[in-house]
Amino acid sequence: MNTSTDKWWIGVLAIVVAVIGGLGIHFMSNPGGTATPPQEKAAASTTEMQAQTPAPSAPTTSATDTPAPQQQTSISPEQAPETQPVAATLSAATSDYGQARRDPIHFKPAIDQATDADCLKCHQEVLDTNTRDTSPAGLKKVNTLAWYQTLDTYEGEQMTFHQRHLTAPFIKKVANMSCTTCHQGNDPRDEVSGTAVDTQTDLTMRKMVDPNTCLMCHGQFPYQNMGLPGPWHESGAAFQNNCLLCHAAIRTTRHKVNFLNAAGIEQEGVANSDSCYGCHGGRAWYRTSFPYPRHPWAGSGGTVPEWAKNRPTESDLRFLIEGSKP
Ligand code: HEC
Ligand code: HEC
Ligand code: HEC
Ligand code: HEC
Ligand code: HEC
Repeated sequence: MNTSTDKWWIGVLAIVVAVIGGLGIHFMSNPGGTATPPQEKAAASTTEMQAQTPAPSAPTTSATDTPAPQQQTSISPEQAPETQPVAATLSAATSDYGQARRDPIHFKPAIDQATDADCLKCHQEVLDTNTRDTSPAGLKKVNTLAWYQTLDTYEGEQMTFHQRHLTAPFIKKVANMSCTTCHQGNDPRDEVSGTAVDTQTDLTMRKMVDPNTCLMCHGQFPYQNMGLPGPWHESGAAFQNNCLLCHAAIRTTRHKVNFLNAAGIEQEGVANSDSCYGCHGGRAWYRTSFPYPRHPWAGSGGTVPEWAKNRPTESDLRFLIEGSKP
């Protein structure tokens, strides 16, 4: 008992030492004595990033700006000349990854006005990345062709999805797709509509692109609507495997949309009906067909078949060629 009351001051000393020691550590890590605000930390790391980036010529938005996405404007050509390397362009345009990802160009309304060049300033990699020569398991890409890749219309080596739809030889003859033909803007955080009152209303669950866009060129051959006795590979021979036998006179108002090359398609179609079939059943990734708009054509008359009663008579508004009649 006595010993413990005698030594009470040792306990007090221990506490005093602990407190002073703690303060010491605090002061060492925080020379200013105040906590560093998170923005300053961000600014410091951004400055480091800039130091590593090869000479960004354009002025950089300060990271201390409020990171509200509305305040970020997408890069203008003056700010980021196209000759700049991608990394430099990105850091010159916005101060960080999160802001770039939420750049208003990704969302409506800005995305509707965006050109491919606007998108490629940050996303050149979608066109520049090539397929691997071998799969991780060692299969060579030249030995792994799907059946449709053996068809006449399939040219060149294996390419990535984006390259096939934007830069491949065949697609350049028949189509004129841009990034925004497929990408219409999606919330990267909330990819399904209706989770809150203010969420985007037109999201396709967990997808960045509405599959209906793909269905237009990758649906089944709608032979029932054509009154053909069976699928094209069965019934085609009776019509010399030639779509134009009928389509020189039927549904002749076609492909007048901004993502297709209508003249190029007709030229290809004359040479080989497989190029028509390719987009209308030949590369069918879906079990249904797209309900195409049914444009009136010379000689279509007034009667509308039962299956076409609910079809629009004009293409989707967002695909109309500028300057053409609405
Ligand atoms: C200022 C640079 C910048 C511009 C301009 C830009 N993006 Fe992005 N985008 C990004 C960044 C950063 C990400 C996130 C990348 C990641 O997570 O790998 C991203 C992600 C995406 C994604 C993936 C969605 C996601 O959130 O994971 C798509 C699709 C996309 N962008 C399309 C586009 C399209 C289409 C355009 C043109 C309309 C465009 N981007 C313009 C920087 C940009
Ligand atoms: C034919 C339709 C189509 C076109 C045209 C298209 N994309 Fe995509 N893109 C897609 C699809 C589909 C995905 C995968 C979406 C998913 O995973 O939900 C994708 C994914 C992406 C991604 C995410 C990263 C990746 O590579 O998977 C980026 C970034 C992107 N696209 C940018 C672009 C840009 C930039 C353009 C124009 C140069 C473009 N896309 C044109 C359909 C398209
Ligand atoms: C305007 C018509 C069109 C649209 C829209 C379209 N595609 Fe394609 N797709 C094609 C054509 C044409 C080819 C064949 C290109 C070639 O052979 O060079 C192709 C090829 C493909 C391939 C095979 C690629 C390869 O290298 O083997 C896949 C997979 C594919 N498309 C998926 C999609 C998806 C998914 C979408 C929607 C995001 C889509 N396509 C939208 C026309 C289209
Ligand atoms: C025997 C004549 C005939 C042949 C051959 C034929 N079609 Fe058709 N096609 C029709 C008729 C008839 C319609 C429906 C016309 C209408 O809307 O009243 C039609 C409609 C279509 C439609 C629109 C379908 C829809 O649901 O709106 C497409 C696309 C089409 N044909 C593509 C082709 C392609 C591609 C080929 C060749 C692979 C082909 N057709 C061969 C007679 C033919
Ligand atoms: C690159 C893909 C592609 C090719 C190749 C192609 N089509 Fe189409 N076709 C489409 C798309 C997409 C639509 C719907 C366009 C729209 O929304 O107006 C369409 C629409 C049609 C329609 C409906 C016309 C209407 O009333 O609007 C017919 C018929 C048709 N195509 C026949 C053909 C024939 C015949 C060929 C060959 C000469 C052919 N297609 C080649 C993609 C293609």
